[in-house]
Amino acid sequence: MKAGKIDEHSFIQKLGPDTRIVVLTGAGISAESGIPTFRDAQDGLWSQFRPEELASPEGFRANPKLVFDWYAWRRKKVLESKPNKGHEILALWGQQFPHMTLITQNVDGLHQAAGSQDLIEMHGSIHRLICFKERHPSPWVAAKDGVPLCMRCQSPLRPDVVWFGEMLDRRILEHIGKALANCEVFLAIGTSGLVYPAAGFLDEARASGALTVVINRERVGEDRCDLLLQGSASDILQRLQDSIQARHVFKVSSRAR
Ligand code: APR
Repeated sequence: MKAGKIDEHSFIQKLGPDTRIVVLTGAGISAESGIPTFRDAQDGLWSQFRPEELASPEGFRANPKLVFDWYAWRRKKVLESKPNKGHEILALWGQQFPHMTLITQNVDGLHQAAGSQDLIEMHGSIHRLICFKERHPSPWVAAKDGVPLCMRCQSPLRPDVVWFGEMLDRRILEHIGKALANCEVFLAIGTSGLVYPAAGFLDEARASGALTVVINRERVGEDRCDLLLQGSASDILQRLQDSIQARHVFKVSSRAR
């Protein structure tokens, strides 16, 4: 189905306080906070390494220090950055739309920093560590000579993120499955839609009869969604929020007559 089944104005009309909305975000929503995405050709995180070398248990076993240092470098960039307008508007939407489920593939914690609550971090968080053997949680500790070890079982500590080849938490997948089965509107914002299971969420939402919207700098997924809004995530979210507020004002003024 080609995109264009609905235009932006009609999409805004569909949004109300009872609308069941699922929002999926990817690295593109944090790009404007200065955090490199994974697959941007010129400076994407993968441009210098292969994902399997860095974001996989095999990569960690082969070179734990390289992997730990790469995540420490990414975490430092995150700590030096702050949420952008896109994160802030989604936090506002979390208040405005009580039946909104926010799912992020990002591990940077910027949605929480912008005020979003009870979001689903389906790929974990770069701010948490677990140990490689037993997944014992640990606060972040810097690597000195080697990779820090778990205080409880002495196995090496690694970021609490989902690596290639690792399974996602079943409970998280069940929660997401229920949200997709019941949603009326699905938005995919700043994601290339290349990594499953997140890449399949748009089709799952469509199968449930939801209106599907993609917000992306590139023309990603335009033949699978009802509306593609191409451009910067923060600019588009600001434009959508302005229309939502204008409509609200419109409703009040019509009542005022
Ligand atoms: N506004 C909107 N979209 C943007 C912007 C922006 N300012 N900047 C980049 N994008 C888009 C790109 O066009 C691209 O489609 O964001 C997307 C980023 O894609 P990826 O780098 O592949 O990141 P993501 O989709 O989140 O990757 C999914 O893959 O590597 C694994 O676990 C990792 O969570 C990650 C997953």
